[in-house]
Amino acid sequence: MSKVICSCKNVTKKDIKKSIENGATSFKEVKQETHLAKGCGKCKKKAKKIVTKALKKMKSK
Ligand code: FES
Repeated sequence: MSKVICSCKNVTKKDIKKSIENGATSFKEVKQETHLAKGCGKCKKKAKKIVTKALKKMKSK
């Protein structure tokens, strides 16, 4: 099972990866697509880190 990154919006690591695979190229775009960090905002820091990491990984492919 994929780890839930944002419990407000129930966004998992897998969801983040999927949105990047679907063409999201920034934290903002991932946010728009997954609704990541659109609740309490507590996950924002962590979420951003994960998105940045995932974006880098995708680019190096
Ligand atoms: S845990 Fe992500 S907005 Fe609350």
